[in-house]
Amino acid sequence: MTMEQHTPQPEIVVPEAEDFLPLLGTDHVELIVGNAKQSAYYYMHAWGFQPLAFKGLETGSPDSVSYVLRQDKITLVLTTPLAAGGPLNDHLNRHGDGVKAVALWVDDAAKSWKETTSRGAVSVFEPETQKDDNGEVVLSGIETYGDTIHVFVERKAYSGVFLPGYVAWSPSGTSESLGLKYIDHMVGNVGWGEMNTWCQFYAKVMGFAQLVSFDDKDISTEYTALMSKVMSNGNGRIKFPINEPAEGRKKSQIEEYIDFYQGAGVQHIAVATDNIIETVTELQKRGIEFLKVPSTYYETVLDRVGEIDEDLAPLSELGILIDRDDEGYLLQIFTKPVVDRPTMFFEIIQRKGAQSFGKGNFKALFEAIEREQSLRGTL
Ligand code: FE2
Repeated sequence: MTMEQHTPQPEIVVPEAEDFLPLLGTDHVELIVGNAKQSAYYYMHAWGFQPLAFKGLETGSPDSVSYVLRQDKITLVLTTPLAAGGPLNDHLNRHGDGVKAVALWVDDAAKSWKETTSRGAVSVFEPETQKDDNGEVVLSGIETYGDTIHVFVERKAYSGVFLPGYVAWSPSGTSESLGLKYIDHMVGNVGWGEMNTWCQFYAKVMGFAQLVSFDDKDISTEYTALMSKVMSNGNGRIKFPINEPAEGRKKSQIEEYIDFYQGAGVQHIAVATDNIIETVTELQKRGIEFLKVPSTYYETVLDRVGEIDEDLAPLSELGILIDRDDEGYLLQIFTKPVVDRPTMFFEIIQRKGAQSFGKGNFKALFEAIEREQSLRGTL
């Protein structure tokens, strides 16, 4: 393994994203899960999310139940169907627990739908106004890769707890926040040869620009490879790296994902913290499992990244990785898959100037993933 070299970061292309689709941020991420009640407990008590809102039988929602959780700017919606059949069960049957909707906060959901569908996006639902005593929201939706969708959420005339149809939810026994602040980026895995198609989708349909690109020479080990491009919206708040598998001697981790997810989907959600040591210490205490690189990583890492503010000892103990680019450095760590299928996982990231994605860690990280794949018999 060669971790000592600090390969130069790819040139960052200044985004020239068009602003026909101004995005204010990520509104929420909706996962379809097998048991939303227990998933909500997991995200509250293991991850420090706070309960926010609920809809289900008690609120007049006969077909599905949803729990809404929040930590700072991150809002998760966990949804489970309540009866057999229908699209929610189809999603669950095909993909297992996974992300259905990446909802984007906009000023004008009707215009967002019009601008994107006129550029080729497939509509999921036309702009619709939903009202309750707290005002109104406008929602619209378009398809993206796999069965994943983007929902545009316009909530400037709404003061309710989440969306119409939901009631405030405050169960007993909640947990403390773990300092997770916002979604830094969300990565999509797509099939062989589909990366450019979906990058073009984000460029043409949503006005995103390409930040960086990694080919299989950047992201390969002795055995496996992948390719990745990072697409960003104009104000840089929304970053969607897109991965596709590449040929190697053994099975790419992206192909393993595609096999188990039965298609393209969200691979990981990177969440930002201001104190990764505290956040990860607490997550590990609560049983969250992380990928570990060999301890030899820490023998040479400072030669590669230079001086950092943190002591190396706690980083090494927790398995936190370090990388540097022209603008600063970053600290990051990746969980093992958080669902039964080897599909979705989380990244915890603390940026100290660096705006890149940890390229210097790819090799060590992917070798760690290969060890896990080997245990699953999927390498
Ligand atoms: Fe990431």
